[in-house]
Amino acid sequence: MIDLSSNYLGLKLKNPLIPSSSPLTGNLDDARRLEDAGAAAIVMPSLFEESVILEQKQLDKYVHSHALGNYEAESFQPVPSDYAGELDNYLDHLHHLKSTLNIPVIASLNGISVNGWIDFGKELAQAGADALELNVYYIAADPEQDSKHVENRYIELLTDLREQIDIPITMKLSSQFSSLANMVSKLQTAGANGVVLFNRFYQPDIDLETLQIKPQLELSSSQEALLRIRWIALLRNRVELSLAATGGFHCLDDILKALLAGADAVYLCSVLLNKGPEVIAALLLELQQWLEEKEYESVQQMQGSVSHSCAIDPAAYEHSNYVNVIKSYKP
Ligand SMILES: Cc1cc2nc3c(=O)[nH]c(=O)nc-3n(C[C@H](O)[C@H](O)[C@H](O)COP(=O)(O)O)c2cc1C
Repeated sequence: MIDLSSNYLGLKLKNPLIPSSSPLTGNLDDARRLEDAGAAAIVMPSLFEESVILEQKQLDKYVHSHALGNYEAESFQPVPSDYAGELDNYLDHLHHLKSTLNIPVIASLNGISVNGWIDFGKELAQAGADALELNVYYIAADPEQDSKHVENRYIELLTDLREQIDIPITMKLSSQFSSLANMVSKLQTAGANGVVLFNRFYQPDIDLETLQIKPQLELSSSQEALLRIRWIALLRNRVELSLAATGGFHCLDDILKALLAGADAVYLCSVLLNKGPEVIAALLLELQQWLEEKEYESVQQMQGSVSHSCAIDPAAYEHSNYVNVIKSYKP
């Protein structure tokens, strides 16, 4: 029997496949289906800073107007004693997942500012989260902000969180850093146990009829996996933290490439939304068969064997290959 296990963030996983944050992991029945299909862990949908802050503001306003007595008498509703806010609902879902599933549950925080909202990390850890993912979805669009400022935002958020909790922390990153490898190394020094490469930025479109900007969410394709695979290959054995791949992992070939490049975990989202949780079982069977055919004994034996530090031609991951690729194009 081939050993599919992998280590991610110090967690011993039965295989490397993890459903990433999505509406599926936000629903208890779907989470159960994901586990039944063989998922090794799950990442909850994020608790978003803006939702938490908006809610706090609304509550403050409410309590303030109540204290001043300037509310409309007929519209006045006391804050119900069982009022459940964003965090309470999130903690409830975490409790349900933890009491229903046997696999690790990774909670997720999504925000950009170094404020009180990050204190919630402590409550998530106390509620039993096995690890915490911090997704800093930040668009660095201000010409006055230099790259150091942007990087410090990540480091400060991580440092704040690290001071409060002992469970592993993984950082879900964008690919858009001037020096990604250096950034990952800084995160490691600041206490990160892993990185998740890469966040997908959803691209707003312009509606040519209304001239309005329309937000749109398109699911990924396998083509996007190559950027992630390259960076995992470049980082493997050069940093000491865990590496997870997210963005464009749909089929066995994508997963194999991520593992060969050096991923400790491969996150799945679009493929699960397209095909349903049960696709995990099929992918695991294919992975098992491929390893048998190639005479591997375990996933760990293959992990990183085509990373930059182990590849037959490491330069192919670097700039030097650029000219060859351009010249090889035949119109
Ligand atoms: C509908 C939807 C909801 C998502 N919600 C979150 C979220 O709450 N937090 C987060 O970090 N990523 C979220 N993601 C991003 C996914 O977890 C994943 O990283 C991304 O879709 C790339 O993986 P994929 O190519 O397998 O879809 C969401 C994606 C989708 C499609």
